[in-house]
Order: sequence, then structure tokens, then C-alpha cells
Amino acid sequence: MAAFSFYLSLSVVAWLCIFSVSSLSDHESFLRCFSSHVSPTANLSQLLYLADSPDYSSLLFSSIQNLRFASSETPKPLLIVAPADEFQVQASVICCRSHGLPIRARSGGHDYEGLSYRSEKSSSFVLLDLEKLRSVTVDVEHGVAWVEAGATLGELYYKVAEKWQNTAHKLHEDLLLRVDIVHVNRGDRRVVEAAFKSLFLGHCDGLLQHMGERFPALGVERNDCREMSWIDSAVYAAGYTNGEPAEILVNRELQPKDFNKGKSDYVTEPIPVSGWEAIWARLSEEGATGSMHMDPWGGRMSEISESNIPFPHRKGNLFIILYLSTWRDEGVAASTKHLGWIRSMFRFMTPYVSKRPRAAYLNYRDLELGRNAMAWGERYFKDNFRRLAMVKGEVDPQNFFSNEQSVPPFIAETGERPPINYIL
Ligand SMILES: *[C@@H]1O[C@H](CO)[C@@H](O)[C@H](O)[C@H]1NC(C)=O
Repeated sequence: MAAFSFYLSLSVVAWLCIFSVSSLSDHESFLRCFSSHVSPTANLSQLLYLADSPDYSSLLFSSIQNLRFASSETPKPLLIVAPADEFQVQASVICCRSHGLPIRARSGGHDYEGLSYRSEKSSSFVLLDLEKLRSVTVDVEHGVAWVEAGATLGELYYKVAEKWQNTAHKLHEDLLLRVDIVHVNRGDRRVVEAAFKSLFLGHCDGLLQHMGERFPALGVERNDCREMSWIDSAVYAAGYTNGEPAEILVNRELQPKDFNKGKSDYVTEPIPVSGWEAIWARLSEEGATGSMHMDPWGGRMSEISESNIPFPHRKGNLFIILYLSTWRDEGVAASTKHLGWIRSMFRFMTPYVSKRPRAAYLNYRDLELGRNAMAWGERYFKDNFRRLAMVKGEVDPQNFFSNEQSVPPFIAETGERPPINYIL
């Protein structure tokens, strides 16, 4: 609690400095800007949260899931704007831009490096929190869902499930089989275990037949199989395995909070048995603190071309790896230990994973890939990076919407393709 009030008073000081340095008229002009761009009936105290407003902290921390970025050292926004409609979003962009305030936009709060609500680039920034824009509309007949940016995946699943009974029988039977390599306690021993988890769209009989034909070595039996509705499978996959109701998905209070760090890799060639033995040995070492989660590629992912949408990781990938370290202990010692482990695991995996570029998944954001787009552009986006930089040059040449790893604008003078190594 002491640290909390310390942080609060710091934020107030920061806010006062800004407006005493650049004069209070800036503050007033900022508010005037908002008033002139939103409906006259809008209540500004439900839209703008200054650091000294009573709801600032609860709003800021409400969707910070990674405790690494919830400490007093994490830079805090000068102001949180929580728009309730698209006009208020526009007003936020217009007014922040005209007052030279960079913004960070936060949806559900998921970003492995917290870039949706913190900034290393600028000491003063505004957080545009989309938590009020969370409606989900599902149109089964046309196969379309409209999802506002502030909705969580749980809220989307919940809404889709409401419509599920109309669509389930039309779905093609399919099977997803993932592997989680994790540490578990067996009696008084801590052991490494590979857990095969599968989602099969169909009945248990179909799954047993499928697995018997395609993967008999796993020896799947009827006991391993639990029939449930698709929405219950989403609850189950989220770790609620005791028959908790689907409503758990729309309860934002339950989102787990811990300290964590993730990294990703794609695998394009099977890892040899000797490689798996080495990986296993490394994960079993004393002091190995993280886990490895592998999701298969293929299926529909391989049918879509790399250039169809920005996400490029398609045909040719066998699976994706998420390396994840999560911890509960506060303090530098614990984070040094966990970050050290995941970095060394990532180095160790180099011979086994994709190369030139060593591909990475944007949603498993990793600032350690580098701040400069030369370092991460092709890893996250492959050849699409050039196109994205050109689109960015068209729509946001001033690079107003930016963070430590956002696509920089490329402004082509002669219409040629931008080189990957242009100076940012
Ligand atoms: C504006 O919002 C604040 C905070 O929710 C509330 O206390 C106040 O009564 C509202 N004012 C009006 C005019 O509705």
C-alpha cells in the first residue's frame, strides 16, 4: 500500500510538471479540444482520467495482466482516455495529436511486453483504453462477427457459443493436438512432463478412431476423452477443469495476474531425436523455470497464402513454440532468474528452429528481438513487412501511432520497393 501511494504522488507531480512547464493553458486547451469534438452531453469525468483522479489507478491496473509492468517503476500515462463511442476515439486522436501527446491504445490488455499501456519511447503519453468498446455481434446467417476492439477473447467465445447450436453441426470435423512441456509436482519430486492436449470437433468415438489411425503410439483411450460443448472446451482450455460455467469467460476479475515473459519460434524441419533429448535434459535441469508450448500448424493455415493478410506464417511450418516463464515472487532476483532462463533457452534452440529469418509471432511480443525494425520486421511479417511499411507511409506518414515495435512508415520517392534496411 505504501508503494502504491508513493506512485500516486509521483504521477501527480509528473502531471503538474508537464502543465506548469508548458503552462496551464495547454491543459485548458486540451480540455477545450475534447469538449469541442465530443457530444455536448458527454460527461468528461467519465472520459478523461488524470493521474490524480480517484479512478485512475483502478482503471490503469484493471487489465494489466503481467505484473512485470505493474510496478512503481513502470512509466504511467499522464492521462487515461476511455472513449465510449467512435467519435470519442476520434476526439482522442485529434486532441492528443494536436497537443503533441503520443498515445498507446489498449484493448483487452494483452501484450507480452505491455506496449499497449506503457512506453519506453516517451516519458509522457496518453493511454487510450478501449474497455468500454467491447460489444460483440454475431450474424450466423452471413457467417460474420463484429467485435469491438476492447472485447476479450473470452467475451467473443461466449457470444459465439450463444450461436453455436446453429452452426456446430455444419462444422467440418477437425482435430487439434498441442503439446505442453511443463514442470509438475509428483509426490515430493518436481518432474518434467509432456501433456498432449487435443481439441476434436466431434464425438469421442471419432477421436478414438482418428487417433488410432493417425497416432496409435499415443495410446489414447476412452478415459482420456471428455465430451463437452465447444464453449466448455474454451473454459477447460483456460484452466478451469472442474465444470465451471461459461460465464467465467466474461468475468474480467478472474484474469490471472503474474509476472511473465514469453518468446516464440517456428519449426520448419523436424527436430531430430538427439535434439529432443537435449531439450528434455535442459528442461529437467535444476533451475529450469519455464515451459514450452507447441501448437501444430498445417490444415487451414497452410491453405492461405503468405501475402493474403499481414500474418505471414503459413505453409512450411510444422509448429510454433511458445517459451513461457511465469513467476509470483516480486523483486529483481526472481525476475533476473526467470528472464535469464528464457533467454538462454531461446539461444539453445537456435539450431532447431526457422532461420533467415528466425520467425516470431507478433502476439507473443518480444522486445528482446530489438527495437529497430531491421531486427524484427521480417521475423514477425516476412515479405509483408515491406508492404506494411508502404501502407503505413500512406496512412500515417508522421508515425503518430507508434510504439517500440510498430511498423515504421516508408515513403517511396520513386515508387520502388523499400529496402529492408532503410534507416528508421
Ligand atoms: C459525471 O460523472 C461523474 C463520475 O462518474 C459523476 O459523479 C457525475 O455526477 C457526472 N455528472 C453528470 C452531470 O452526469
